[in-house]
Amino acid sequence: MRAQRASMQNVSLGAHYVVHMPQPDDFAYWRERARALIQCDVPPDRVSWVEPGGTGDLFAEGGPPRRTRRLPSPGKDAREVRVPRRFLRLARNAILHSDQTRFAQLYLLLWKLQSNPRIMEDKADPNVRRIEELDKSVRRDSHKMHAFVRFREVRDESGADHYVAWFEPDHHIVRANAGFFMRRFANMNWSILTPRGCLHWDGTTMRESGPARREDAPQGDPVEELWKSYYSSIFNPARLKVGAMLAEMPKKYWKNMPEAKLIPDLIAGAQAREAGMVAAGAREAKERPATLDAIAAGVSACRDCPIAECGKRGVMGEGAETAPLMIVGEQPGDQEDLQGRPFVGPAGQLLDEYLAQVGIDRNAAYVTNAVKHFKYVQRGKRRIHQSPTAKEIDTCRWWLEAEREVVKPRIVLALGASAARGLLGKTVSVSRARGTPIPLEGGAELWVTAHPSYLLRLDGEARETQAELFARDLTSVKARLDALPA
Ligand code: URA
Repeated sequence: MRAQRASMQNVSLGAHYVVHMPQPDDFAYWRERARALIQCDVPPDRVSWVEPGGTGDLFAEGGPPRRTRRLPSPGKDAREVRVPRRFLRLARNAILHSDQTRFAQLYLLLWKLQSNPRIMEDKADPNVRRIEELDKSVRRDSHKMHAFVRFREVRDESGADHYVAWFEPDHHIVRANAGFFMRRFANMNWSILTPRGCLHWDGTTMRESGPARREDAPQGDPVEELWKSYYSSIFNPARLKVGAMLAEMPKKYWKNMPEAKLIPDLIAGAQAREAGMVAAGAREAKERPATLDAIAAGVSACRDCPIAECGKRGVMGEGAETAPLMIVGEQPGDQEDLQGRPFVGPAGQLLDEYLAQVGIDRNAAYVTNAVKHFKYVQRGKRRIHQSPTAKEIDTCRWWLEAEREVVKPRIVLALGASAARGLLGKTVSVSRARGTPIPLEGGAELWVTAHPSYLLRLDGEARETQAELFARDLTSVKARLDALPA
């Protein structure tokens, strides 16, 4: 009781308080002010929440003008304000809605929570329902921003590539989504212009600027290839409902969408991709697909790690189904991703040369990768290879093991440390592991050597030394193959 009195000491009885929000999406500011007002026991009908350029007074309609006061501050021993996590989660989103009464609605709910901590579970409470609706439409708007922002390429003053997009959000979601675009397009210089404010990323720093007009954004074709591949990678055939899809893609976005051309093909291929998703889902049931076709379908639908969103496709292994030798690389590169086949780019050509040199027939082997998607960063028009993390290799191991179970090779050749990790589930050093076979579960033997792209990066004496070691490792593998019982 004493604490309550102390907390109320600077509240004027009957006064009305106005909170001027500095930004329409400033959750931290709202939370601080709301907490202080609750601690001072200021009821919701005595607070107006005003956002820049608007009014948020839920209770003002038709009432007489009120006397307003400076905001009260709670005493030192004011009680703590506790709220369920769900309230915080919804409030963070709901505050981004363009409904001007959102701050007041949230404060009302916060007020009610103090006497009824379980009110969030009350589906019939109109206040809870309204906050849920606000949250839902903000999430939907963010989803649209992720899906429909389209960049156009322009040159900035320094002649560097810059990508500019125009987007019209329904709510104040621009700043809240900065992180999403920063992560997805980390290595591009880009700007997203909107009537609610703009974001600018230069590869290191995010800058904001005020509202823009449509005329400020470049018109013309978006960067088609970038977006078509992004779109086909996020297209989810299991959720394909044409009517719903059209409802999800309002016409106002269509003119911006090069991938609209892809839709007929994607719909046509949806059944096969759905089968793939079933195969991908089998991991949860711990049932590995038992044929190479089923594995291929599962690989192309797999979204178990972030790399799966990169590149055009999952690249499945290829070769003889009962090959005595399985050759495992790290991950597809740019060319492999474009052609959908392993080891067809520069590293593949070098590998082919060495295989031919030692007398191993690539067509009699099964060639695959530890990781099935191309991990890269976009630099202008170039896609620069990024090494997969141990976690990504371990996640993709499921598919490599499935391939190994079907092909049942007697000898496995790992090209580089990532491939070795994919086979062993732990990191080994190539220089220590090479030259001595390691037994694998199921009876095969594993030979570890360097990756051919490592040789491609070297020159001079270092290249000669490594090339010699590489050829020696391949020669040992050839000798083991020749010694296999027929
Ligand atoms: N590097 C790899 O590890 N695998 C490929 O398929 C191509 C390049």
